[in-house]
Amino acid sequence: MKKTIKDYQYEGKRVIVRCDFNVPIKDDKITDDTRILESLKTINYLIEKDAKIILLSHLGKINSKDDMKKNTLYPVYLKLKELLSTNIYFCDQTRGRKLEEMVSNLKNREIVLVENTRYEDYPDKLESNCDKQLSKYWASLGDIFINDAYATSHRKHASNVGIASILPNAIGFLIEKEVMALNGIIEENTHPFVILMGGKKISDKTLVIDNLIQKCDKILLGGGMCFTFLKAKNINVGTSIVDDENMSYCKRLLDQYSQKIVLPVDIVLKNKQIKDINNLSKDDIGCDIGPETIKIFEKELVLAKRVIVNGPMGIFEEPPFDKGTAEIYKILKENNIKTLVGGGDSVASINLLGYKNSFYHISTGGGATLEYLSGKPMPGIEIIDEKE
Ligand code: 3PG
Repeated sequence: MKKTIKDYQYEGKRVIVRCDFNVPIKDDKITDDTRILESLKTINYLIEKDAKIILLSHLGKINSKDDMKKNTLYPVYLKLKELLSTNIYFCDQTRGRKLEEMVSNLKNREIVLVENTRYEDYPDKLESNCDKQLSKYWASLGDIFINDAYATSHRKHASNVGIASILPNAIGFLIEKEVMALNGIIEENTHPFVILMGGKKISDKTLVIDNLIQKCDKILLGGGMCFTFLKAKNINVGTSIVDDENMSYCKRLLDQYSQKIVLPVDIVLKNKQIKDINNLSKDDIGCDIGPETIKIFEKELVLAKRVIVNGPMGIFEEPPFDKGTAEIYKILKENNIKTLVGGGDSVASINLLGYKNSFYHISTGGGATLEYLSGKPMPGIEIIDEKE
């Protein structure tokens, strides 16, 4: 078992906390603050325990000076200031005397938020390449390291793996909660276990499917990815999105697991017409699952003891193509089915369609949750010390 935040004493200690504040920002305004809110439990715990807190996070990707201006953590600082009842300061640099002085001036229960760790990616990718010198420098600012950046735990970067390899360390409350929920639902021995998968890209999902197909009883497929599976069954999908590179993968899966895979029988087209899947013409573009498909999926879902949702059923940002996704969430909620939602666009669809507090667990991870569900190692968690 990994060490957790509760395994250390913090009074007067400089505690570096790696959070994932990689939140969507439009016109300097945070449009979804879920990840910030989910980080508060760890931060507030450390405030209560009289620590001096140094917060690190990345935001977006930094490949140019222009990216730096666009991806400052300053809006996150303003949000944290609003949410926390303690002194919080913002350091607009990722290293140097100013940062060192701000850290050494911190009193117990105070916080400094350091500018976007990926500023160190320009021009030499020091953060993303887990540069040793950079890791050592950041580690020198603290006494203990807490990794709470669950959504970044599939990355091996200086600000998570690098610092953890130097300082005494532990996971924070958010990583603990995410890992417990994911392990809980995957390992629980209840059936039927149903996977509901959507979204555009099959390439993102093949490893997840490979890891879960033996464990689950059914995989219900919607979203853009279902058209490659349908085409693999020689169904004409018109000009709907198809990933030819993964066609043979889909064929093999359908051959091997025909009993487990459930595909749409009708589709809502771009012109809003609903058509049986066997009647599509060459110009038709599928944008959502149709009403008959929802009924078939519902039959499977209401029997399920546990469900993992990974990806939306249609173009949920554009009504009426949000209907398939919304109806599925409604079925899961009304029937009180134990549901974990995570990876990619699923969380955005949950928030947009108003199902934020409706399920067993909604993961804050996109790529991280996909990798977790694929059974891949998570470097940001693996590096953390085991309990003695
Ligand atoms: C995410 O949003 O998935 C995480 O913050 C990781 O971001 P990244 O894909 O840019 O590393």
